[in-house]
Amino acid sequence: MVATLYLASETVTLSADVPPGPKWLQTAVFYQVYPQSYFDSNGDGIGDLPGIITKLDYIRSVGCNAVWINPIFESPFGDAGYDVADFYKVAPRYGTNDDVKNLCTEAHKRGMHVCLDLVAGHTSILSPWFQQSAARDQPNRYSNWYIWTPADENVPGSQPFPGERYRSERYLPNFFAFQPALNYGYARPDRPWQLPTSDPACIAVREELKNIMKFWLDLGADGFRVDLAASLIRNDPDHAAITALWHYYRNWFDQNYPEAVLISEWSNPAVAIPAGFHVDSLLQFGEPAYSLLLGPKSRLNGNAREPHAFFQRAAGGDIKAFLANYLKHYAATKTRGYIAIPTGNHDMPRPTWGRDTQEVRTIFAMLLTMPGVPFIYFGDEIGMRFLPDAPNKEGGLLDDLQRCGSRTPMQWSRGNNAGFSTAAPDELYLPIDPSDSRPDVATEEKDPTSMLNFTRTLLKLRREHPALANTADFEPMYAETTPFVYLRAAGLERIIISINPSGRPCTVALKKVTKATPLLVQGAAFREGRFEMDPVSFGIFALPDRL
Ligand code: GLC
Repeated sequence: MVATLYLASETVTLSADVPPGPKWLQTAVFYQVYPQSYFDSNGDGIGDLPGIITKLDYIRSVGCNAVWINPIFESPFGDAGYDVADFYKVAPRYGTNDDVKNLCTEAHKRGMHVCLDLVAGHTSILSPWFQQSAARDQPNRYSNWYIWTPADENVPGSQPFPGERYRSERYLPNFFAFQPALNYGYARPDRPWQLPTSDPACIAVREELKNIMKFWLDLGADGFRVDLAASLIRNDPDHAAITALWHYYRNWFDQNYPEAVLISEWSNPAVAIPAGFHVDSLLQFGEPAYSLLLGPKSRLNGNAREPHAFFQRAAGGDIKAFLANYLKHYAATKTRGYIAIPTGNHDMPRPTWGRDTQEVRTIFAMLLTMPGVPFIYFGDEIGMRFLPDAPNKEGGLLDDLQRCGSRTPMQWSRGNNAGFSTAAPDELYLPIDPSDSRPDVATEEKDPTSMLNFTRTLLKLRREHPALANTADFEPMYAETTPFVYLRAAGLERIIISINPSGRPCTVALKKVTKATPLLVQGAAFREGRFEMDPVSFGIFALPDRL
């Protein structure tokens, strides 16, 4: 297939507009740490904060300069810590509040940043706030901090809280039944039990979230990934009330913590970023984009992948569906914030699931050369596998998706428990990948061709080339069929990336591109004015400088 297109680089502005917010986001590359599975420093079988501290140099060596850590707070762990009992205290299994402080100090010494997970929408039923809210015949400060519905009204989803000591109304949960929703109010209340956002109880909840953020920011944290950020306010079809809420917090950040960041789990950048988030992630739910690229479907589809996703080899490599939506969000947010397209996370199958190394590298080549802030999920940089038969632990099983398959311990070496822990194997948080050929950091360190070193090379390119920076321009050049070709540009520098995820070879010529120098390729070449692509291949090429 040969196509001739105009290279539109003349239209690319010479200096990209830089979004407002902390400067460090312009060069940030995040690494997501699932703390219980990362590194166990005290031999109890569960990863911990001191363990993360000992691995900061490794994370830095991958090319990441920021970490997001899943919830580390006091919790009964019904949903792996997303059921918080005390927002102001680290769960003993991870260490102490002082360990958070040390982690931040150690990260800052290395020029790195640390973001915590803010579970803004709900608590555990064991939270003292909820226990007091549920107290029978004892109205108190917390009575309306949760959403209580009349027992005889049978509001869909409402849950009873049985027991003599508790009130007879039912509460609304957010996710699992043991995660009662905090009451930020209703944008358009239409039942007496639905409080407006201006109700003193809703204001008190809003202020408490601010106190929580202040507490951890003062201890040294650099910001938060906000869990279920879109859904705090109910009956808000035009997002006006939720936008006002996040504006409120963002203004407070800008005034008091201008170096701190807010990252949303929203998956709708065109709404989340104008609402106040510095970064929003495209994910397997929300706006259809991520699933059209990497394939994971919403949670109701278990491990299934979207068959037409761009990176499903058999699908033939059509980027149009993804691009249509991505460009909409990119155009709306380019000068205001950053889009993140993560390699994976703790809620979906790893990118290696059902794919070979060449396919995974092609994915990384695209994700790590796109604009926005990259996020690497721990272990994806060494090609860890998704284990669909992993045991169910702490709410991992969601409908028919076994999230624990992406939550097994990090593989550090060929040693006992893959170097994760000195505990007995049956005491580990989750079993180690049992495969003899499982990847590990120590082995990959020694192999210049390993996935780890490949990831490092990609991130080094990103660091060293202004045209690949988070804020550099992005422009699709060819998106009709394979390969997908796009331009990144900043100042005088222009880089072209060509991606062919399909099992068929392909060729494309771009008018005015007569010279392209390979920076990093896998099965790709530029010959006689054409990009020639093998099956499942990518190429990153420098174009001559614009003058
Ligand atoms: C988010 C988390 C997920 C958790 C849920 C409920 O989606 O990523 O792991 O189960 O929120 O808090």
